[in-house]
Amino acid sequence: MALFQPKREAPSQVDFEHLPRHVAIIMDGNGRWAKRRGLPRTAGHAAGAETFRTIATYCKDIGLEYLSVYAFSTENWRRPMEEISAIMGLLKKYLLEAIAKMERDRVKMKFFGDLSPLTPELRQLCLETEEISRHYDGVQVNICLNYGGRDELVRAARAFAADCLKGGARPEDLTEATFSNYLFSAGVPDPDLVIRPSGELRLSNFLPWQAAYAELYFTDVLWPDFSKEELNRALADYQHRARRFGGV
Ligand code: IPE
Ligand code: IPE
Ligand code: MG
Repeated sequence: MALFQPKREAPSQVDFEHLPRHVAIIMDGNGRWAKRRGLPRTAGHAAGAETFRTIATYCKDIGLEYLSVYAFSTENWRRPMEEISAIMGLLKKYLLEAIAKMERDRVKMKFFGDLSPLTPELRQLCLETEEISRHYDGVQVNICLNYGGRDELVRAARAFAADCLKGGARPEDLTEATFSNYLFSAGVPDPDLVIRPSGELRLSNFLPWQAAYAELYFTDVLWPDFSKEELNRALADYQHRARRFGGV
C-alpha cells in the first residue's frame, strides 16, 4: 500500500461547456501591490480597476452568466478620505466608459449595496448604468458597492418586518426563498465559486447568505496581477470539486 500520496496536480484545463453559473470575486490586494512598487495606494486601485475591466470582458467572452465583484465594503469607509475619493473617482471613470460602450458590450450591470451615501452624481451614474443595461443579455456584472453582508441581512429583515406591519406578509410566510427576495441579489442564483486573491483567508462580510454553499478559492496573487490565466486556474480547480450540499 502506498504510504505517500503525491499531491494532486493543479488542474489547468477549463471545460468551458460546464462553467459555474456565478463567480464572485473579492478584489483584494491593490494597496499591497502599490506598496511593493513604492507607489501610493491609489495607484494600486487604478491598476485594480484595469484588472476588473479585463476580467469582466473575459467573463463575457467565455459566456459566464453572472460575475459579482466586491468593490467597496461598508467597512471601507474607515479608510482615509483621500483613498475613498480616489476609489469613487475610478468608479465614476469606469461607469462613464461603460455607458459609452454599453450598446456594443451588452453587459448587464447591477449594484448590490446602499448607494445613498455616494455623491448624487455617482449614484445617478450607477442607476443610469443599471437602467440602460436592464435588458442586456451578456454577462450580468454585480458590483458590490458600499456592500456589507450583515447590512444586507438587517435591511432585508427590516423590509420584511415593514411588510408584515403593512399587512402584506405574515411571519409564517418567511422562508429561505422569500427571504432571498429581500436581498440585493434577489433573482440572482447563488455564487458557485468565490475567489479571493491577495492571500487573505476570509470573506470580509462578502455575500454571507448567498455564499453559504459556494466553493472557495484563495490565491496569493494580488488583484492587480490577477489575469485570465488565474481565473482559468480557479475555474479548473472548481471543476474538480465534489459539491455535496450536505448529501452523500
Ligand atoms: C482592495 O484592495 C480594494 C478595496 C478594498 C477597495 P485593498 O485596498 O484592500 O488592498 P490591500 O488589502 O491593502 O493590499
Ligand atoms: C474586502 O477587502 C473589501 C473589498 C475588496 C472591496 P478588505 O481589504 O477591505 O478586507 P479586510 O479588511 O482585509 O478584511
Ligand atoms: Mg485589502
